[in-house]
Amino acid sequence: MYHVPVLLQESIEALSVKKDGVYLDCTLGGGSHSDAILSRGGKVIGIDRDEDAIIECTKRLSVYGDRCKIFRANFKDADDILAEENIRLSGAIMDLGISSHQIDTAERGMSFRFDAPLDMRMDRRQMLTAEIVVNEYTEDGLIKLLYEFGEEKFAKRIARNIVSAREKRPIHTTGELSAIVRSSVPANIPIPERRTFQAIRIEVNNELRGLDKALKDIFSYLISGARMCVITFHSLEDRIVKQTFNLLSTDCICDKSLPVCVCGHKAEGKVFKKIRPSKEEIERNSRSASATLRIIEKF
Ligand SMILES: C[S@@+](CC[C@H](N)C(=O)[O-])C[C@H]1O[C@@H](n2cnc3c(N)ncnc32)[C@H](O)[C@@H]1O
Repeated sequence: MYHVPVLLQESIEALSVKKDGVYLDCTLGGGSHSDAILSRGGKVIGIDRDEDAIIECTKRLSVYGDRCKIFRANFKDADDILAEENIRLSGAIMDLGISSHQIDTAERGMSFRFDAPLDMRMDRRQMLTAEIVVNEYTEDGLIKLLYEFGEEKFAKRIARNIVSAREKRPIHTTGELSAIVRSSVPANIPIPERRTFQAIRIEVNNELRGLDKALKDIFSYLISGARMCVITFHSLEDRIVKQTFNLLSTDCICDKSLPVCVCGHKAEGKVFKKIRPSKEEIERNSRSASATLRIIEKF
């Protein structure tokens, strides 16, 4: 299977799909969320920046004919696509992070479970790869990204060891990077590479910058009563979604010290209680364990 969907039932229920309503799937992946929307009579505009996902979904969703339109793009450019299509949305889903296919395909270099070239790109047309980050970023640059995107407390040691290893010879593979990380952290740390690989992948794919703007752009295309569902897999992206949804659902955003409101900011929607996967889902699919579903409904 291309991707084992996470929180599928919960997110589709939240969208409460209307026949002929148009739904934006910002992260097609293996197409399970889109399939569920289409099979309930909705129409889908589907986006992914990974060519493999486009090929998979073009095949899988072809049975729905012109009810499904697929675009290879970054969802940060959804604004352009939606404006061009001249449509309003009955709902939107964004299932962040990487697909099972991306992490399980060794040569994508996303996983420390395989020894493979240091790639990590979701969109293989782009120039920046993990190999460039690891071999060309300054030591300070590496420390910053390991702290910021990996919340890695051994960032300094790992960065120093990366720099001294690459002074001897360039680092080409996930196996080499993995060995450097393991030699930099205490032996009792479970899965020591997880944070470093997450941080480098976020940097390579520029996963966090502009996410707030993309959420606001997409929200602006929702019709009244429509919902946007976002599934996140780590605290960094979840924080951005939470803050953006809070902003969209808050009236006054003035400094608390001001006696009266001067901003005139008005809430445009309401936020629902966040949803986490059930115990059964986590048992069935351990990758769902870190997932959080956040939902906002437009007034
Ligand atoms: C977790 S998977 C989605 C799985 C999908 N919902 C399913 O059930 O099969 C995430 C997908 O989002 C894509 N993706 C991540 N960030 C993206 C972005 N900024 N623009 C477009 N696609 C993105 C990835 O390439 C990947 O295919």
